[in-house]
Amino acid sequence: MKQLSLSATSLLTLLTWHFMLSGHAGQACTFLIHNKCPFPIWPATASNAGHPVIADGGFYLPSGQTRRVTAPDTWNGRIWARTGCNFASSSKPACQTGDCEGRLACSGSIGLPPATLVEVSLQPDKSKPSFYDVSLVDGYNLPVSVSAKPFASNCSITGCLKNLNSLCPSELQVLNASGQVVACKSACLAFDLDVFCCRNAYGSPEKCKSNMYSDMFKDACPSYFSYAFDTPPPLVRCTSQVYVITFCPSRWGDHMPI
Ligand SMILES: *[C@@H]1O[C@H](CO)[C@@H](O)[C@H](O)[C@H]1NC(C)=O
Ligand SMILES: *[C@@H]1O[C@H](CO)[C@@H](O)[C@H](O)[C@H]1NC(C)=O
Repeated sequence: MKQLSLSATSLLTLLTWHFMLSGHAGQACTFLIHNKCPFPIWPATASNAGHPVIADGGFYLPSGQTRRVTAPDTWNGRIWARTGCNFASSSKPACQTGDCEGRLACSGSIGLPPATLVEVSLQPDKSKPSFYDVSLVDGYNLPVSVSAKPFASNCSITGCLKNLNSLCPSELQVLNASGQVVACKSACLAFDLDVFCCRNAYGSPEKCKSNMYSDMFKDACPSYFSYAFDTPPPLVRCTSQVYVITFCPSRWGDHMPI
C-alpha cells in the first residue's frame, strides 16, 4: 500500500512537471479594466459554473483609473459595471444598476439586469481562439469596448455610437431617485414574452427575428448582441494574453475603439 501511494505521488509530480513545462498549468490571462466614465463605477465579475471567482467578484474603480485583473487562461464568465452604488446604506439594491445582492464583492452572484455584459470564454489551448462578445440581451447600462492587446481592429469590439439611455423609450426605462434614466431594459426583460426572449415557439434563429426594440439597440451599439439570435453573431474570436475592457470608451458618436 505504501509503495502504491508513493508511485501515485510520483506520477502526479511528473504530470505536474509535464504541464508546467508544456505551459498548460498556472498560465494566466490579464484583463485591464479602465473606467473612462466621468463618474465612479463598481466593476463586477461572475464566473460560469466550475470557474473561480476573479477580482473578488467586484471592486470600486474611480473615474480615470485602471485595474489589472488576472484570470486563469481557461476562465469563462461575465464582466459588467455597476453604477450609483452606496454600500454603506442598508437599503437594497445598493447600486442603481447591475447590483448583486447589495454586496461590493459579488463572489459568483450575477448582477441584477439591465446591465451591459461582457461575456468571455478563454481557451487554454493557444492554437484555438478565445471568444468574447458584448450583450444587450438583458439590457444596457453603460457603453463598453473590448480589445486584445496589442490592438488589432478585428480583435476589438467598439463602444456605442449613441447614448442608449437617452434614446430609451419609456416602457424600457429604469429611473433613479431623481428621475434620470440610468439603464434601458431589453424587450425580453421588460415584457417577458417568448417572441422577444427567443424561447419556446421562438427558440431558434429562424423563428426569433429582430424587432423594433432590438433594432434600436443595434442602431446605437452595432458591435453588440441586440437580441439572443443576432445575426451575424457579433462574437469575436481572438487569442491574447491581455484584454482591455473600457467602460465609457469615448464620447458619443466618436467611433474610436479605446
Ligand atoms: C441619477 O442619475 C444621474 C445620472 O446618472 C445622476 O447624475 C444623479 O446623481 C442620480 N440621482 C441619484 C439620486 O442618485
Ligand atoms: C485579423 O486580421 C489579421 C490581418 O488582416 C489576420 O492575419 C488575422 O488572422 C485576423 N484575425 C482574426 C481573428 O480574424
